[in-house]
Amino acid sequence: MEHYQFSYELVDSIDALSADDATLLRKAQSAAQLAYAPYSGFNVGAVALLTNGAVVQGTNQENASYPVGICAERVLLGNVAMQYPGEKIVSLAISYHSAKRASDQPISPCGMCRQALLEFEHRSDTPIRLILGGEKGRVMIIESARLLLPFAFTPHELGGQ
Ligand code: THU
Repeated sequence: MEHYQFSYELVDSIDALSADDATLLRKAQSAAQLAYAPYSGFNVGAVALLTNGAVVQGTNQENASYPVGICAERVLLGNVAMQYPGEKIVSLAISYHSAKRASDQPISPCGMCRQALLEFEHRSDTPIRLILGGEKGRVMIIESARLLLPFAFTPHELGGQ
């Protein structure tokens, strides 16, 4: 039998993070307030620190036609690509506020966002460090988004790259 496994860091609270990571996660918590999520009541904030020191935000943007809605992570990636073309993402924090549940556990990106994050890692040739946490509680740190998508379909599969 073959196995896939990966290591990640789990800390008890935001207080155990480095100052830079804690700042980024706090920004993601604040960014969640800018989400447009009247249908799910689930407001997500994603904030990236770039290699040039810039900080870029994204939030989920829902739609009365539900599938039109887009996740915070992909809004963020589009913002990075347009505002700072060619710039790499060092770390990306994701947090949330929910009308229906306590925000006391990390959430991790949905499958579609994992694929989008992976593409960004490929095009920038740099791992994206994920910092995942709610408004309180434990925080998860994952060294590269690709770890969340084993056996992914990548540009290599298309040949010529
Ligand atoms: N959502 C995100 O923005 N990011 C995630 O990582 C998970 C889910 C959004 C999509 C939708 O607007 C709402 O959260 C509920 O699924």
